[in-house]
Amino acid sequence: MVEVAFAPSAVESFLSKVQTRNLRVGIIGLGYVGLPLSLLFSEQKFRVTGFDVDQQKVDTLAAGGSYIYRILPEEIAAAKASGFSATTDWGRMPDLDAVIICVPTPLNEHREPDLTYIENTAHAIAPHLRPAQLVVLESTTYPGTTEEVLIPILERENKLGLKAARFGASAQNAFYVAFSPEREDPGNTQVTRCDIPKVIGGLEAQATELAGALYSSIFRRVVPVSSPAVAEMTKLLENIYRCVNIALINELKLLCLRMGIDIFEVIRAASTKPFGFQAFYPGPGLGGHCIPIDPYYLLWKAKEFDFHTRFIELAGEVNLSMPYHVVSSVAHALNARKQSPNGSKVLVLGLAYKKDIDDLRESPSLTIIELLQKQGASVSYNDPFFAKVGRGRKYDLQMESTPLDNLEQYDCVLIVTDHSDYDYKKIVNEAQLVVDSRNATRGIKSEKIVHC
Ligand SMILES: NC(=O)c1ccc[n+]([C@@H]2O[C@H](COP(=O)([O-])OP(=O)(O)OC[C@H]3O[C@@H](n4cnc5c(N)ncnc54)[C@H](O)[C@@H]3O)[C@@H](O)[C@H]2O)c1
Repeated sequence: MVEVAFAPSAVESFLSKVQTRNLRVGIIGLGYVGLPLSLLFSEQKFRVTGFDVDQQKVDTLAAGGSYIYRILPEEIAAAKASGFSATTDWGRMPDLDAVIICVPTPLNEHREPDLTYIENTAHAIAPHLRPAQLVVLESTTYPGTTEEVLIPILERENKLGLKAARFGASAQNAFYVAFSPEREDPGNTQVTRCDIPKVIGGLEAQATELAGALYSSIFRRVVPVSSPAVAEMTKLLENIYRCVNIALINELKLLCLRMGIDIFEVIRAASTKPFGFQAFYPGPGLGGHCIPIDPYYLLWKAKEFDFHTRFIELAGEVNLSMPYHVVSSVAHALNARKQSPNGSKVLVLGLAYKKDIDDLRESPSLTIIELLQKQGASVSYNDPFFAKVGRGRKYDLQMESTPLDNLEQYDCVLIVTDHSDYDYKKIVNEAQLVVDSRNATRGIKSEKIVHC
């Protein structure tokens, strides 16, 4: 394949617009990833246009409001003052120099990649593409998505016959494409977002250079890699590494419970080793948009290469079993008091998939509540982040958060999410029985506590 020399003017003009902040940035998908990213660019005085198919989100932002707990309305107002606006109108695409796609990548009911959001975005933006625009995909996905799914739609459906900048096209009839994974850790207050290095894999060197220049204005360090596929695989490696290690520690927890050993004390001790060990913690099961889902993207893709990803499947099996373990621990704890889940009142503490965040996607709490209900328990929940919970992709609970008073009315208080605001001492004092799946009651001595 012939390596193409692009007219320097398009690249130089892009780079100079980054410097002068005249570059127009579009963010597609204003969720947990896209909205904070929009604000980061706004803080650096870029004029940002956010696109979303959810009219309610667009209206909320237009009214200066926020729908993400950790983003304050004041931050939206500040961004609007720097030119940020949200829209559902794809006709505003041609104004933009760079477009960053942050739409969901869930699994379908067969636990296979559901790329419809990426495909729909590609269909929506393709007719508006113009020469020298940069398109970056940030959604987590399997290696090959950028080249096999995104680019073909953009090339096929744009109106000017543009090609992604690798097929020998000149800058006049080419657009640039890169993949750059989002690495956010929701609720992490130790590492600021701009300190998380940004991995970038362009389709060719100039796409990497342009994306690198753009991201360098909001991230302290960019890490160029040789292709979109390498960048896609990097993100999956990171999340599979977490998934497999969490499964390992979950399995060891089950063994330690049987052996009467405190796994958390073991982890604390092992963590004193200054090399070769990184602590992972057991819990009631995986949650969130990433760790429970992303490994299955690779598992699915690997089959195309007659490859069986055994670690991923085993880890998935162990992690998926954890909510069932929690529910059987509640049953055992009640049984020890001559009670059973059937007919007992259980209060679940925490709906969010991890502490101090307002995200319940794939949360083990939802599975646990449904399993307890199936066993005949009358289940209530408390979560300061969710006043109520309705229907989701895989659940239909229709419940409201109950106040944290009169705890003695419950046969069991089950800690699923260890939010920092809970007063665990008070909870243990007032409850009849506490089943703790997070070690939230560490340091509290009481016969009422059952660790699971
Ligand atoms: N949330 C995280 O912590 C996190 C971390 C790393 C990576 N990711 C990845 O980032 C991607 C986005 O995740 P998220 O958590 O922001 O999801 P999200 O559901 O919070 O937000 C996605 C947004 O995209 C919008 N959307 C859907 N289809 C659209 C379309 N065709 N056009 C425009 N907007 C559309 C939705 O309405 C929603 O507002 C996923 O691939 C995810 O795996 C998420």
